[in-house]
Amino acid sequence: MSRDPGAGHGQDSPSAQVKRAPQGLDGASMAGHCVLPVTEETMTPWPDRRLPDLFGIDLPILQAPMAGSTTPEMVIAVSEAGGLGALPSAQYDPAGLRAALDQVRAGTRRPINVNFFCHQAPTPDPATEARWRDRLAPYYRESGLVPPEGPAAAARAPFNADFAAVVEAYRPEVVSFHFGLPAPDLLARVRQTGAKILSSATTVAEARALAAAGVDAVIAMGAEAGGHRGSFLDPAMATQAGTMALVPQVADAVAVPVIAAGGIADGRGVAAAVMLGAAGVQVGTAYLFTPEARVPPAHRAALARAGDDNTALTNLFTGRPARGVMNRLMREIGPLSPDAPAFPTAGAALAPLRQWAEAAGRDDFTNLWSGQAAALARETTSAELTRTLAADARALLRWL
Ligand SMILES: Cc1cc2nc3c(=O)[nH]c(=O)nc-3n(C[C@H](O)[C@H](O)[C@H](O)COP(=O)(O)O)c2cc1C
Repeated sequence: MSRDPGAGHGQDSPSAQVKRAPQGLDGASMAGHCVLPVTEETMTPWPDRRLPDLFGIDLPILQAPMAGSTTPEMVIAVSEAGGLGALPSAQYDPAGLRAALDQVRAGTRRPINVNFFCHQAPTPDPATEARWRDRLAPYYRESGLVPPEGPAAAARAPFNADFAAVVEAYRPEVVSFHFGLPAPDLLARVRQTGAKILSSATTVAEARALAAAGVDAVIAMGAEAGGHRGSFLDPAMATQAGTMALVPQVADAVAVPVIAAGGIADGRGVAAAVMLGAAGVQVGTAYLFTPEARVPPAHRAALARAGDDNTALTNLFTGRPARGVMNRLMREIGPLSPDAPAFPTAGAALAPLRQWAEAAGRDDFTNLWSGQAAALARETTSAELTRTLAADARALLRWL
């Protein structure tokens, strides 16, 4: 993917930015990054101590766990830079998670977050699976491939006793959940390790439910966000609020710190989230533009063309709504379809088509997760992104 740091944005090159002093809200340069040089001022502690004190970190910048794209190298880089790196467990089985945690713990002694999905494992549903096969039949005819037989295997295991044992062994400082919270006995095992517990809310009601269950902070995930919606009470997608509306309402509704997520890709977004009452931010898509991200070529190319008007929520690739760059499958049978089988089984029937299309350089059947602010992202390292998000936000907030 190629994002020229200056192209079309009226910006200097990153190296020029580093040397330039920031201009404030009365200046003209707020249309982009305004990286502060590392000075004594930027080295002073982040003024809002809620997240730094809660997690033992320096900067209230949480790198979003991104299953499939986050690497141990990314987690290490972000945590070493003073933010909170997050390892997404959905991409591992328990043995794989242990190996990844060995690598992360060898690379940093700073706090880390380990993230788990906690969806209900789906029950077999032959009728929906048959409907899904019918829906995909024209593509199989076109490709000449034979569709996979039998019920689709679940590709992602929810948090379970085996994963809880990994948490007990490695004792990450923070554990975050997506799609609600696990069963009380499993949650108690996590809490007993001393880990701070987070989960995503996409509505005020979900935030209240998480706070009532005793989470240490709530991630308010606006509709702009890339990847799967963390929704667990209300599956309605048409009514999901954006970050600007959601964050202050969640901040008003719960006593625990609120972490804003969705559409935040530069210092302006971080500063805006702080003004809306967030104690910090969780940033995903912008980290996909770093060398520490694992992004296959089709996804990389899609991110390079991602803009404000070509992402959508789709359930076609996994069975749960997630935001990604529009492609052929989303245009032709979606982006949302009642025919997609339950999470996480929908993708199995697509796998051969995806491979076939990608071999020909097409992304027709590939999930291309991206938030709405991908066009604001710049190619830079995970460490630099972490520091820049915080420094640019500070420069903006200083003027208020
Ligand atoms: C490629 C990708 C994969 C994601 N995977 C996960 C995941 O495994 N667990 C999770 O809690 N959130 C996941 N998310 C959602 C992020 O945690 C976060 O809420 C989102 O990226 C924030 O919006 P942004 O992408 O606009 O920054 C993913 C997001 C992306 C873009």
